[in-house]
Amino acid sequence: MARLGELLEAQRLGCELAGSPLYATVLGAVGADLAKGGPCCRLLLPYAGSSFGDAVVLRFLAGVHALVLTGRAPRLALHYPSAGGSPGPSLESDFRAVVESHEAELAESLLRPVQTNEVGRCVPLLCGYLVLGESGMPLRVLEVGASAGLNLWFDHYRYEAAGLSVGPASSPLRFEEPFTGSPPAMDVMPTVAVRRGCDLDPIDPGTEAGVTRLRSLVWPDQTDRRLRLDAAIDCIRGEPPVVDAADALEWTGRHLAEAAEGLRTVVVHSIVLQYMPLDVRRRFVETVEDAGARATDDAPLAWLRMEPAGDVAETRMTTWPGGTNRVVATSGYHGPPVRVNATD
Ligand SMILES: C[S@@+](CC[C@H](N)C(=O)[O-])C[C@H]1O[C@@H](n2cnc3c(N)ncnc32)[C@H](O)[C@@H]1O
Repeated sequence: MARLGELLEAQRLGCELAGSPLYATVLGAVGADLAKGGPCCRLLLPYAGSSFGDAVVLRFLAGVHALVLTGRAPRLALHYPSAGGSPGPSLESDFRAVVESHEAELAESLLRPVQTNEVGRCVPLLCGYLVLGESGMPLRVLEVGASAGLNLWFDHYRYEAAGLSVGPASSPLRFEEPFTGSPPAMDVMPTVAVRRGCDLDPIDPGTEAGVTRLRSLVWPDQTDRRLRLDAAIDCIRGEPPVVDAADALEWTGRHLAEAAEGLRTVVVHSIVLQYMPLDVRRRFVETVEDAGARATDDAPLAWLRMEPAGDVAETRMTTWPGGTNRVVATSGYHGPPVRVNATD
């Protein structure tokens, strides 16, 4: 029980710091419910031994958010900006009431991992892609843990900063001034010749259920993130990226075993490693590094990854042949604001 209290408090603090006062308030109420052995306690207690990386609290919040978004929690919806509401004095009691009346359904949603497809992460990743594009060699982008694949479409989004811009001007998704400090050299968007992703359980952004699932994972009072998500969904409508239902390890090994002469292969992931069991993570890294050792000037490889590094996320890139490794950007977990690191 004490461990669960710690998980809740860590997530409450995380939401407060990352700009979700609504979830910070709700999680305060969940903490009080825990102490009283109420409905939130009954649902979360089986996960008392889980780690912060399992993100059980976020799974729970997403389950409740899905009820709001599908019209099954109308009183709570009055507090959720994502449903047109604004937080009022009865937020905590209305939240508890929804949990109590949907316990079985929420127990199911707790089984589903966090699959937030955060398109804001395209900004720190762009810092790596732009460097890779400098040679003019087209890219073969292989994204691991791609969720709905929205970040595979990074080159279809518009990025504008300090009078520079890259990406189609007509894109429904625009990032305006997403950098702190100097922006990267945004001269030419690299050409993507091949793009493909994998996920244990891909979300189909072309279905209503898929869109609801994606929206449920965005914190309800973070309007900018919600608007970015909807704009990205608009962008990929009609030609959704291919995301194979597959485990990262097997899929990456299979794709890296295929020769790709004339293309710069990029293995990319963002906020994924923590969800892989340790041994899978270790073997995945070995798979990429082994492929790096085989890379040639005609078939080079890059490993671009945005992963947590304490309170910030670090976007690192290793390129082969050579194995040069450097930090290309630091940012929030959801992307902007992004600081470009010119050198390691
Ligand atoms: C937090 S989400 C991040 C999604 C996306 N990379 C982004 O940044 O928007 C993590 C994703 O990794 C996937 N995942 C976790 N372990 C995996 C594995 N072993 N193989 C493939 N996908 C995995 C999950 O299903 C989930 O969609």
